[in-house]
This record gives sequence, C-alpha cells and structure tokens, in this order.
Amino acid sequence: MSDVIFEPLRFKNLTVKNRIFRSNISGRFDNYDGSGTQTRINWELKFARGGVGAIISSFVPVHIRGRIMPNYATIDTDERIPFWRAVGEAVHEHDCRFIMQLSHGGRQRDVPGVEYPLGLSSTDQKDPLHGFECQRMTTDDIKSTVAAFAEGARRAREAGLDGVELHGANGYLITQFLSSAINDRKDEYGGSLENRARFVVEIVKAIRARVGTDFHLQMKISATEYNNALLKLEKPGNTVTDSIQVCQWLVAAGVDSLHVSTGSSFPHPRNPAGSDLPLDVLGQTYEVMASSGESTLRNLLLFRNPLTGEIFRHQWLDAGAPVAQIEGLNLPDTRLIKQAVDVPVICTGGFQTASVIRSAIERKDCDAVSIARRLVANNDLVNQFAAGRDRAEKPCTYCNKCLVHVVEHPLGCYEESRFASREEMLQQVMSVFHPPAYV
Ligand SMILES: Cc1cc2nc3c(=O)[nH]c(=O)nc-3n(C[C@H](O)[C@H](O)[C@H](O)COP(=O)(O)O)c2cc1C
Ligand code: SF4
Repeated sequence: MSDVIFEPLRFKNLTVKNRIFRSNISGRFDNYDGSGTQTRINWELKFARGGVGAIISSFVPVHIRGRIMPNYATIDTDERIPFWRAVGEAVHEHDCRFIMQLSHGGRQRDVPGVEYPLGLSSTDQKDPLHGFECQRMTTDDIKSTVAAFAEGARRAREAGLDGVELHGANGYLITQFLSSAINDRKDEYGGSLENRARFVVEIVKAIRARVGTDFHLQMKISATEYNNALLKLEKPGNTVTDSIQVCQWLVAAGVDSLHVSTGSSFPHPRNPAGSDLPLDVLGQTYEVMASSGESTLRNLLLFRNPLTGEIFRHQWLDAGAPVAQIEGLNLPDTRLIKQAVDVPVICTGGFQTASVIRSAIERKDCDAVSIARRLVANNDLVNQFAAGRDRAEKPCTYCNKCLVHVVEHPLGCYEESRFASREEMLQQVMSVFHPPAYV
C-alpha cells in the first residue's frame, strides 16, 4: 500500500520527493564575516543522506545588520553565491532539494557582532526579555531592506538553489512588523493589519519582480504569537485569524507555500517546545549574550541563582506545552490556514512518529511536516520511516539541550541518555567537522 509520507509534493515551481522537510536549524558553523565553510556542507549532508525530501536552511542574513550572531553564512553579497552553489550541489547529489531561509533579525540579535551595535526594527522599544535595543526604521531603511531580501532571492536563484523561504516567524524583523504586540508605528507600516503586513507584502512583490514567477517562494509564519505566554503583562500579539488574512495576502502577492510555526520570539516556550529548560547549560552558555541586551546580565545572574533559576524554569515550562502535546502542536493552526489558501502548507513542531505525520497529512491538516530536533537526534529518521519503523529506537526527548548549547557550542544532540557514553555523544557532536575544510 502506498504511504502518503513518501508521495511527492508538488508546489507551483518545485517538486519534493516526500513529505518530510528538514526544518531550519544549524549552529555557528561558518566564518565571522559570513563566508561559508565545509562544516555547513557537512551539516546539511547529514540530512540529505538521511532521506529528507528537502532541507530548509537555517537563518541566512540578507544583510550583516540583520544577523542574529556571527558565524552563520550570509547571502548579503554576490561573493557568497559560489559557497551556496556548493551547498546546493552537495545536497542535490542525494536527490534532496534545498530552500534558503532569507532572514533579517531586526532587534532580535543574540550576539550582534562588531559592525552594527544597534539593530533595526519596526519600533524603537527594546525586546522585553533580553532588552535588545534597536532603532526605528525610516522609510528609506524599509526600502533598502526590501531590496536586500530581493537581492538575496536573486543570489539564491543564481546559486542554483531550489527556492527561498522568508523568515516571517519567531520574532525576527518580519514578525516585528506583522505583530500587533511589537509594531507601534504611526505611519503606513503600522496600525491596521493591512499596514503591518505592508512590509512583507512589499518584500514578496520585490522578490517576484527580481526573480520572476517560476522560482519557489514560501514564508514561515508564527500563526499564533502567544506574546504574553511568559511575560503576562505584555500584549498577546497576532491570532491565527490575523495570520490567515496575512497568508491570503501573501499568496495573492506570489507566495507558493506557507510554513506554520508559533511564538513572537526565539526561543519561545512553545517553540521549540520542550520537556525541560536545562538551566545548568543555560547558566554557562548565556554568558555569550551577557552584553547583548540591557537585561542579559541580569538574566544570566537569575539563571545561575538556584532559586530564581528554578522559578524561571517553571514559568517557562508552564508557558509551553505539556510533553504529550508537543508532537504536532501547531497542527490546529495549520489546518485553519490550509483551509483558507490554495497552496501547500508545511507544519513544524514536535513531529517524530510516522503514524502521527501520516494521519496529519491524510486528515488534510497539512501537506508536509518539517522536523528540526528529531533529525538532529536521528539524522536518518526518514530512512528509518521508509524501512517501516514508526519511531526511532532512541527518540528525541525534547530536552532542549541542543537549543541552549547552540549559542556557544557546536550543534548536535547533547542528551547523554541517548548515547552509550559521554564520549560517544561528543563524537556525534564533533562529527560535523569531518571532513575538515582542508584535507
Ligand atoms: C538550535 C535550533 C536552531 C534553530 N534555528 C532556526 C532558524 O534558523 N530558523 C527558523 O526558522 N527556525 C529555527 N529553529 C526552529 C526549528 O526550525 C523548528 O521549527 C522548531 O524547532 C520546531 O520543530 P522541532 O520540534 O522539530 O524542533 C531552530 C531550532 C533549534 C532547536
Ligand atoms: S538535545 Fe537531543 S534529545 Fe534533546 S531536544 Fe535536542 S535533539 Fe532532542
């Protein structure tokens, strides 16, 4: 009997061999200036070999000022095109497609780097958790940022990649415009939903004008923002009803697919939703961010204090989702969006069981799923599904140790209980550096 997971997915301009996408995830694998390295190619190859139909890259800044931290390869100049061509070619050898996530962090920058001390945003208010300060964008800033996204798409196309995704989710610049909780502008880019969506609709139109209508373009969106999930005095932010309207405008402007996420920040208690918040690791790695925002040093001390740390951990987990609900937690929003648009819709969040994914697609809640952490834990999960396994033998525990390690250490699975020993775990983490750049 045919399995819907392994049926090809046809978008307007792209066909993917199955319904499982590697969701956007990577570590600080590249050079400080945004030039790429062999390590990123090694990273992406792990998943291409493991059977995913397509890889959606992690955050790729369209401008240096829009990066979240150094050591992520950028797409801000034509100089970067050959590197991304090499990534695409390596992945293609495994019959896997590669979609680049065009991104701008706005005010949400974990480690800003030396070039631009101040981030840009829809607002001049700092973010409430870390206190990242920012500068309100002028109309000229908006115009040049729209153009930077369009140039990023043009470069991705010239690199031979299979499409681009706008990072319109999780509190980055596009969310900072879309969100009713963050955008406090009084001009034509703020106020009504239509005005708040103007920035991203202009980006879509500019991309279409630059690359034409036959290149795949999708958008990742936080369908429900839950902006006050952790900080109860904040405004709630956009609802799924707001996001459905935004998705319809995006499709009318030329978007070929939606990728549904959640949360008005990154990380957010609901994204990536976890079974734990590993405070011991957080207390070490958050030090990299100690000077990034007005509240980051305070937060570091709070995480390191056993009492306040424990209170924060409880609040974070309470604001998230019970472990039993993490798998497919964005499916209800995705279903509503899918019913309202006529393009394929991808759902992210918690997937790790073939039968759950199969049912979601068969029920028409979504057309495909994207997976991040479970593929970090088991790079070959899709090949395991193809061989008839419903779940990996050593599943991901949603512990979120990979997440809190990533600002300082190489990305990999840090859940020691999944390995025979700590040495074996570290071997897996360090395997991303093989082969090295110069052999
Ligand atoms: C370490 C880490 C890095 C991530 N980086 C990105 C990113 O660059 N862009 C993005 O859209 N999402 C990013 N995400 C979110 C994932 O792509 C995914 O949507 C989310 O973790 C939920 O899926 P999962 O439960 O399969 O992990 C990241 C998640 C983790 C854990
Ligand atoms: S550290 Fe490993 S087990 Fe824990 S969430 Fe990340 S991938 Fe899953």
